[in-house]
Amino acid sequence: MSSTLFRTKKVEQSILDTEEPEHALKKSLSALDLTVFGVGVIIGTGIFVLTGTVARNNAGPSVALAFAAAGVVCALAALCYAEFASTVPVAGSAYTFSYASLGELPAWIIGWDLVLEFALGTAVVAVGWSGYIQSLMDNAGWEMPAALGSREGAGDFGFDILAAALVLALTVILVLGMKLSARITSLVVAIKVTVVLVVIIAGAFFITGDNYDPFIPKAQDVPPGESLQAPLIQLIFGWAPSNFGVMGIFTAASVVFFAFIGFDVVATAAEETRNPQRDMPRGILGSLFICTALYVAVSIVVTGMQHYSELSVDAPLADAFKATGHPWYAGFISFGAAVGLTTVCMILLLGQTRVFFAMSRDGLLPRFFSRVHPRFKTPHRPTILLGVVIAILAGFTPLNELAALVNIGTLFAFVVVAIGVLILRKTRPDLHRAFRTPWVPFIPILSVCASLWLMLNLPAETWVRFGIWMAAGFLVYFFYGRTHSRLGKQRETTVDDVLKPRPNGETP
Ligand code: ALA
Repeated sequence: MSSTLFRTKKVEQSILDTEEPEHALKKSLSALDLTVFGVGVIIGTGIFVLTGTVARNNAGPSVALAFAAAGVVCALAALCYAEFASTVPVAGSAYTFSYASLGELPAWIIGWDLVLEFALGTAVVAVGWSGYIQSLMDNAGWEMPAALGSREGAGDFGFDILAAALVLALTVILVLGMKLSARITSLVVAIKVTVVLVVIIAGAFFITGDNYDPFIPKAQDVPPGESLQAPLIQLIFGWAPSNFGVMGIFTAASVVFFAFIGFDVVATAAEETRNPQRDMPRGILGSLFICTALYVAVSIVVTGMQHYSELSVDAPLADAFKATGHPWYAGFISFGAAVGLTTVCMILLLGQTRVFFAMSRDGLLPRFFSRVHPRFKTPHRPTILLGVVIAILAGFTPLNELAALVNIGTLFAFVVVAIGVLILRKTRPDLHRAFRTPWVPFIPILSVCASLWLMLNLPAETWVRFGIWMAAGFLVYFFYGRTHSRLGKQRETTVDDVLKPRPNGETP
């Protein structure tokens, strides 16, 4: 049985299976392109929304330190991810790569994990978008009924109708096969970065020093009934569960980690990079460094503008300007945030459907999902299915809970990736690596420890939810994927057979 669990898909076959090989390997990207792309994908709900919630609930002004800590963890993971992504010349996700190198079960685990990351990530960004649209509406004097909008004050029942509507609208756009052109992407990146710089520079004039006192608020015990919401590490070691204090910084880091998600997408562009060995680390670390610096500066400014306990949960950056009597800035920030978050949401949703599509094409999920639309040539079935599910989730689930689940899934994938780098250096030293992680095994081991540390700082209930998700994944794999795997069925099939075109547009 272990031979089937660890059966690998031939690298050649992975390449043939790539949806758009003509887009995959053009070596045209420079370190600067990668940096711009990275900043474009990375900046989103994390900084625009989570800063407020996390400062209020976990860290106060020291949320700035949390951003710095999360940035370091991501930099370590990024160095491993870049090697992982560049070893197999297939544009795509860690799923495809691990299938070609580590085996079917690890690939399934990573794929299942990526579904969680991208699907729930889309929901998180949609909820953030909705907060800023509501802030804009508020500027214009319109207010959404609480039950359909803001979660603050929504009582027991709330359905974020704007977030759900955004996901459904983007689903339609993806089914129709519309893509973001490079020009639009650069424009959106420019708008986003301008907005962030405006927050930092204009906001700096409205800081009140008293708001930083204390910079690290004193630890507060969590009420006993809410102990499942305490970080797992506190429960494991039998500490009294608490918020704020030094441990609060790590709890905050494990949540604001979400703000960095997206650099893994940059790492997958390794094979499209002119000089990956030089430009990949520059691009990834460059975009991570820029984002970390912007995040730290934004959080210092915002917690200085308004006392952390008063920051808004829905649109903290814009609302801090409203609170200091500058609604014009607030309107500008909300507009820029809404534009910027739309594209992040679209990129995550697209990534999500691609992973699901690839898993279905490999037979690990029903093949029904990998038939492309006859006219639009898009994987419309997974797109619609997931779009509807994500819209419902985005409508009903609190932002923090979603973000924590995305983070645990992503961090877990980073652990697998870092271990994968070590294993492959031993088992397949022959593979050409466009980018090699420096100081192996030191960096991968450090990356595993750092990712695990952040995972342990997530609430115990997030672990429970993650456990349920992974258990469901194992069931799907053992009862469906393992027996329907195309690789399993076609072990004898030659690459030539795989190449034969199918008349009905179905991928082979
Ligand atoms: N890093 C992205 C965000 O913060 C996903 O929205």
